[in-house]
Amino acid sequence: MRQRKVKNEEEKLAEHNLFLVESPAEQKGKWREVFGNENDVYAEFGCGKGQFILTLAEQNPDRNYIAFEGSGTIVLRALQKAEERGLKNIFFTKEYVKDVSDYFEAGELAGIYLNFSDPWPKDRHAKRRLTHGRYLDGYRRILKEGGCIEFKTDNEKLFAFASEEFTNNGMRILEVTEDLHGTALPAKAATTEYEDKFRSEGKKIKYCKVQV
Ligand SMILES: C[S@@+](CC[C@H](N)C(=O)[O-])C[C@H]1O[C@@H](n2cnc3c(N)ncnc32)[C@H](O)[C@@H]1O
Repeated sequence: MRQRKVKNEEEKLAEHNLFLVESPAEQKGKWREVFGNENDVYAEFGCGKGQFILTLAEQNPDRNYIAFEGSGTIVLRALQKAEERGLKNIFFTKEYVKDVSDYFEAGELAGIYLNFSDPWPKDRHAKRRLTHGRYLDGYRRILKEGGCIEFKTDNEKLFAFASEEFTNNGMRILEVTEDLHGTALPAKAATTEYEDKFRSEGKKIKYCKVQV
């Protein structure tokens, strides 16, 4: 789903910066101060227009959420939605994540969400997949003990790749299904924009939850 770039993106982001953290690397180790409380912090990498993470924030006022989205045009939509809902426990940041350790101290996160991550189908681009071992090493560092990663996709090859990477990385698979919405798993309750679209096309959603 290619997005048309909005005109004056920087200006528009500046107008909608109430829920935007502009320099996330400067908040490393200080995320609880950003939220102003001691609640657990959860992150989503590649949040798109924010439907999923905003739903979680609404449902769990006692948890904090920080969502990363590299595209300014797309994150703008998430920021606008956050303003409409007036939540106190969520921030977004316009950043293409390369090394998660740039943004979080060891053990700073309670959980990580990866939803419909770009598949990067060519082998030579495998390292860019957010479920590549090089990212998993980083997630392991920034998650606290017992912290979980939840991953959803419609893409069979990416799901097989991710499952192998999780296992090779010594992560414990807690829940796994090739048809999330045919189960009673709680992860089906908060959906993403891509999830809704693929479901409306009759595609099955693959899901797994692993513990570090
Ligand atoms: C296929 S879309 C899925 C969006 C959303 N998670 C959903 O399920 O509707 C992937 C999104 O991840 C963003 N993205 C890709 N790589 C990223 C990275 N390394 N850091 C942050 N965002 C990224 C893209 O800009 C895009 O909006």
